[in-house]
Amino acid sequence: MIREPEEETALLDLVENYFRSSFTTENPIITEAVRRMLAAGGKRLRPRVTLLAVEACGGDAPSSLHLAGYMELIHVATLIHDDVVDRAETRRGVNATAVDFGNRTSVLAGDYLFAWIFKNVTANYPAPIPQVLATTLAEICDGEVLQLHALGELRTTVPAYVAIARKKTASLFAAAAECGAIVAGGPPEYVDALREFGDRYGIAFQMRDDLLDVTAESAALGKPVGNDLAERKMTIPLILALARGDDDFRDAVRGFFSTGALPLAQIVEAIERYGGVAGTRTEIARWVDEAKRALQPLPEGAAKESLSALADALKE
Ligand code: IPE
Ligand code: IPE
Ligand code: MG
Ligand code: MG
Repeated sequence: MIREPEEETALLDLVENYFRSSFTTENPIITEAVRRMLAAGGKRLRPRVTLLAVEACGGDAPSSLHLAGYMELIHVATLIHDDVVDRAETRRGVNATAVDFGNRTSVLAGDYLFAWIFKNVTANYPAPIPQVLATTLAEICDGEVLQLHALGELRTTVPAYVAIARKKTASLFAAAAECGAIVAGGPPEYVDALREFGDRYGIAFQMRDDLLDVTAESAALGKPVGNDLAERKMTIPLILALARGDDDFRDAVRGFFSTGALPLAQIVEAIERYGGVAGTRTEIARWVDEAKRALQPLPEGAAKESLSALADALKE
């Protein structure tokens, strides 16, 4: 049976209803901070991946709405913390949580939300769902710390970059897909296939996010553009441009990182000139193809097609 796209939208609407009507914690300040972040929007990619994984394994997506919701809430908690760490002032087109509530409340609100999610997940889902999510959270923090230690490190290689992206970003997509397959009762080969899809998709996703930091407009993005360079982050467009650039470019990047003397636009222009943008698009396409290849063991159907389309959208 071919599922109409509206049905996927209807399911996501139910996740939204849950956020609007039922999400509450015992602390009104934290509830308000999280509700603001949810109300500001976002692409809701992680709950979509969970619901599509459930369907791809022949499970009942409507009974997995809470699980899908928890995937978004884990993401929201990481974003609240990430904006403190990255000193970013906007998120989803509105003030970052730290701008409205301060760094101290943001750190505690993110911690609280993680604990709140795990309290609910352990109460409602059997092993190995809580273990998968706990492992994921450790990986996200691990990746973020590795990234902090690589700040301004011009010798960062593509494999080192991929290892960080895999931990900080792909691990949640992998868990979102894997948990969907598990609750649907999918056989081990489907669970593995979906986990692999999430991993490859997540790496491509982070590469595209890095690309947008140099190519997008901040109004369209809803978060600051050029912030990665300002924070001395070793993003994939920069790493690839450094691999092809000359010593002058290397010195320019070093100068920008140490004094911020050069205008940002000049660095962005050089990243493009040395193939950082085109090279990133090639890398994204490669990981998208890997993600789609991972889906091969799954039965044909609308959910598999939607996952494939989600991956293809990263090439745009
Ligand atoms: C942003 O994720 C954080 C990264 C992992 C790059 P999204 O781009 O999915 O953020 P929202 O949910 O749409 O706001
Ligand atoms: C964020 O990566 C990864 C997380 C674990 C939240 P980024 O720092 O690139 O995400 P944005 O660009 O702030 O959304
Ligand atoms: Mg960030
Ligand atoms: Mg980013």
